[in-house]
Amino acid sequence: MPITYDESKKIWVLETNDTAYSFGIHQSGKIKHCYWGKKISRFDDYPDLKSYRENPWWDWNDEIPVRGGANQTEPCLQVVYADGVRDVTLNYQDYHIQDNLLSIHFTDEYYRLSLTSFYKVHESYDLMERSIQLENHSDLPITIVNFKSASFYLPASDVYTLTHLTGMWAHETRLTKEPITEGKKILESRVGRTSHFHNPFFAVDEKATEDHGNVWFGQLAWSGNWKIALNKKPYEQIQISLGLNEWDFEYSLQPSASLTSPVVLSGFSSNGFGEMSSRLHRFQIEQILPKSNAHQLRKVLYNSWEATAFNVNEENQKALADKAAEIGVEIFVVDDGWFGERSSDRSGLGDWHVNAQKFPRGLKPLIDYCKTKGMDFGLWIEPEMVNPDSQLYSQHPEWVLHFPNRPRTTGRNQLMLNLAREDVKAFVLDTVDHLLSENDIRFIKWDMNRPVFEAGWPEEANQQKMWFDYIENLYTIWDTLKTKHHDVIFESCAGGGGRVDIGMMRYADQFWTSDNTDPYDRQFIQEGFSLCYNPKVMMCWVTDWGGKNSYPMTYRFHAAMMGSMGIGADLAGYSKEDLQTAKELINQYKQIRNTVQNGRLYRLMSPSQTSFSINQYLSPDSTESVLICLKNPMPLSMFQVLRIKLKGLEEKSLYHISQTDQIFSGSFLMNHGLDLDFRQELDVKAKDANHFKSQLLIIKKK
Ligand code: DGJ
Repeated sequence: MPITYDESKKIWVLETNDTAYSFGIHQSGKIKHCYWGKKISRFDDYPDLKSYRENPWWDWNDEIPVRGGANQTEPCLQVVYADGVRDVTLNYQDYHIQDNLLSIHFTDEYYRLSLTSFYKVHESYDLMERSIQLENHSDLPITIVNFKSASFYLPASDVYTLTHLTGMWAHETRLTKEPITEGKKILESRVGRTSHFHNPFFAVDEKATEDHGNVWFGQLAWSGNWKIALNKKPYEQIQISLGLNEWDFEYSLQPSASLTSPVVLSGFSSNGFGEMSSRLHRFQIEQILPKSNAHQLRKVLYNSWEATAFNVNEENQKALADKAAEIGVEIFVVDDGWFGERSSDRSGLGDWHVNAQKFPRGLKPLIDYCKTKGMDFGLWIEPEMVNPDSQLYSQHPEWVLHFPNRPRTTGRNQLMLNLAREDVKAFVLDTVDHLLSENDIRFIKWDMNRPVFEAGWPEEANQQKMWFDYIENLYTIWDTLKTKHHDVIFESCAGGGGRVDIGMMRYADQFWTSDNTDPYDRQFIQEGFSLCYNPKVMMCWVTDWGGKNSYPMTYRFHAAMMGSMGIGADLAGYSKEDLQTAKELINQYKQIRNTVQNGRLYRLMSPSQTSFSINQYLSPDSTESVLICLKNPMPLSMFQVLRIKLKGLEEKSLYHISQTDQIFSGSFLMNHGLDLDFRQELDVKAKDANHFKSQLLIIKKK
């Protein structure tokens, strides 16, 4: 049983294979946190709250802290009752255990508001999901102004480091580490999407490395405004709260209505960051990704955006499709520009009919052409948006987010449809459903290129619920589309990697990681991404970013093989030899992709700490390892022979390295290590490209 209530100690203990989380009933009647960390082998040793001394001047470590009483931590709940009272007093009522789900029920002491805190324990993944549900049992609305999903506590310590992902457009998911000191640290999004700036993920470690040390971590399943607050006070535990961002948020909970917070996925690893990532990766594939495609291999796609931008037409797309098919591509994707009066980003968004000048015969001839070449067909859309210069906007100017008497500020020349409106929701759903029903489309890239500015919804009394309803409607639309068109692969894109999170992952089969496809820059973006998202959902293209000849072709491909590979280069500019090399490398990727996409990732060398970026992928049945090694410029590289120790092999088994035809024991490969020769001739005239090298090794158990 993963969940136990110990009546004598009045504590709940939630155990996974390796970890435990516990809280209990304090003598004051409050529910307080007790323990989060490695599973304790003797159950009787789990601590209770007898020694917890409550201070009359402040209150700390409530399992569900509220704005009310003496609470000094970030609240999970702040409401305004109809009579203006802004203080919540939560009383514990009872609990319920059903299999791996624990529900703890609370009610307000006076007002008829109830709160249920859910804990879903995933024993074999060593992970736990938490969320909170509110119900209004009164006859009057209750205004929710702050609603978080969970609050966590860690023992006081001066050695903690916070790891999180930061970035901007073209530099998303950069690994950031900083010591946790007194005060508050806020990570958040206020832009109506997950955001490029921060990702809803945290990890706190005690001097941990990839393989050793304690790491506590969590990620939020939400694609709108979110907030993570880390709060440290002298001598006190560290509090981490996660959930909806209270900035500009107000939700009027009507009588008999309920509201459920986004889910937080959390866990603890005593074996460093590698194990943390591996647990999240496995859970994502087996429990979060849409079931229809979770276990299928991602096909190699070609996307013509970098080649033809808005100038798409039947002829030039067919010419690219010829080349794509020749090198082994499996899905051909037409990006922006195929619809409405779309010749630049200034017009056409919202008018989702095929542009008759560019495709006089519609999309069918191109789709059929791709099919005869053995490729699926895919299409780009951005249905949440509208250009002021479009038919849709002239018909429905009231559909965009806006305030009266204020400008409607454009971003990339576009305005945002208010998806929280039911008519807009129906329009978006019908538009995409129609596209997919009328055309043999097997892949959708769903883009979202601007943040929210003027967040007004003039017709609605409770305007600020938009932040919540928009995202809920987005999820409903994706869910409906995925259910009806389950053989279509959906990619979530937001001007690069602006909408990457596990909320979206319930519907999106993969994510556009970043518009930056420079193979050197990419290593940093991909390293951060891989920390908490599976390589399978990380789309990596080979393009001409950074200059086609600045990097060796193999280096560019090897960088893209670290996740699910695509091609975005202008193949029209590729020579016969280039195409032949591309074909061979794509073929090589197809041989290793099961191991890369479904296996266990070991980050052997980090590009942010060394001149190398080396990943080992161990196949699900542990019989094959793929080693992708990228070497970046560094001084004295002509002497560079690197010894790299593999992981996860069997000590006594023998392994064959396909590329060098050598055989070694697992013990040798893991303890002595494999020598990789990156030496190069000292040539002062050598082009920069010579300093970027790569190797790919396939290591098979004999
Ligand atoms: C932004 C995306 O990130 C790009 O890949 C591309 O699809 C453009 N939008 C098209 O407008």
